[in-house]
Amino acid sequence: MSSDISYHKISQADIDFFRSILNENQVFIDQENKLKYASDHTEDFVFQPEIILKPENTNQVSQILSYCNQKIIAVTAQGARTGLSGGALPIHGGVALSMEKFNKIISIDTNNGQVVVEPAVITQVLQNAVAEKNLFYPPDPASKGSCFIGGNLAENSGGPKAVKYGVTNEYVLNLEVVLADGSVIWTGANVLKNATGYNLTQLIVGSEGTLAIITKAVLKLLPLPKKNMLMLVPFHQAEQACQAVAAIFQQGITPSGLEFMERDALIWTARFIGDESVKIPDHIEAHLLIEVDGNDEEVLMKECESILGVVENFKTDEVLFAESQAQKDKLWNLRRKVGEAVKSNSVYKEEDTVVPRFELPKLLRGVKEIGGRFGFQSVCYGHAGDGNLHINIVKGNLSDDVWKNQLPIAIREIFELTVSLGGTISGEHGIGYVQKHFMDIPFGNAELDLMRGIKNFLTQMEF
Ligand code: LAC
Ligand code: ZN
Repeated sequence: MSSDISYHKISQADIDFFRSILNENQVFIDQENKLKYASDHTEDFVFQPEIILKPENTNQVSQILSYCNQKIIAVTAQGARTGLSGGALPIHGGVALSMEKFNKIISIDTNNGQVVVEPAVITQVLQNAVAEKNLFYPPDPASKGSCFIGGNLAENSGGPKAVKYGVTNEYVLNLEVVLADGSVIWTGANVLKNATGYNLTQLIVGSEGTLAIITKAVLKLLPLPKKNMLMLVPFHQAEQACQAVAAIFQQGITPSGLEFMERDALIWTARFIGDESVKIPDHIEAHLLIEVDGNDEEVLMKECESILGVVENFKTDEVLFAESQAQKDKLWNLRRKVGEAVKSNSVYKEEDTVVPRFELPKLLRGVKEIGGRFGFQSVCYGHAGDGNLHINIVKGNLSDDVWKNQLPIAIREIFELTVSLGGTISGEHGIGYVQKHFMDIPFGNAELDLMRGIKNFLTQMEF
């Protein structure tokens, strides 16, 4: 959404104010830090903030926001800056509000299966801490080893386990947030059901740092599943791999991971991580990586047999079953590193389309057809069980002119196709900086005005 607000530049008086409420190790204006906080993982964008602030408690966040709101200074919330839609880029300069000092797990409540965390806890650190108590926090974005819970909340992140366990919003019970005017609120209650007023918690989840700053989160935990099985299925045709996805669910099975990888995704990633031991013959166009989990090995075995029964209806090569934890880790690593591998290969753009899963074959076919017409190569992969296809468009030999002027037209076509199939333009990466010009595709003016109105009300400004 575009903003007509003209933000004020940071003045010496502003710096003096920030230094008066924060310590020396919380205020940075040096060039090295400005560059560091100018980027996230989105393509190759660089937008330098004028100042970086690192509050360490809710009161400091409150003072910063209230001051900046009065002075009309732009504030961009930042976590681990692993986002892929540019939501953490300080596109207006101003303050980069890095939440990195909020890195404590405050308490794990085993009686109720809940955890209270600060936003800069790394997702995997949280998962490991609760797993020690036989509890499970399922959302697992590819960047789980470095991304922060706060960023996951802001983007409503998913990951492979979402297909069975749902995305981040399903695990959020209550949030402490600071509003633009500095007021501190709790959005809900620490309960599993809540029919009390508007759902402020879910308004904040997925709002990409545009409405409030999250300072604490109460999250729901599940019992930790004890066993899982993993298989890699090579398909002769990519479209058939996509067709198999809905067919697996139609057998009454909900895998705990159902990931699609086109041939190039796997080959490039294997090369990137320096392990090409999984052989990919020329006639294989795509793979499905399928995991089932639970507590009973026999049940899982039966589920695997049913899945094999489904994939046999398509043209496939021999299925690779992971026989050890090391092999499981290797296959998951291959999948998780696809994004990084493509990024390291060429300039690229990543789209995060999502459709009802039965429409996935049509989406894939359409993407390839559009790519053929505009002359671009795409590497597709993603959370097929969710109908969530990451489309990496590779610059390769395309001219700068085509990249800059033709590609947005092609992306628009991809998004229009996605929406026509009942889907939308981001499943888990968010809109951020890179997709906001496409918001008119899934939404009309009434919906966009409503969103703008919410933002205006919460900031008392006119966006
Ligand atoms: C993944 C990230 C890019 O699925 O969402 O690998
Ligand atoms: Zn993903």
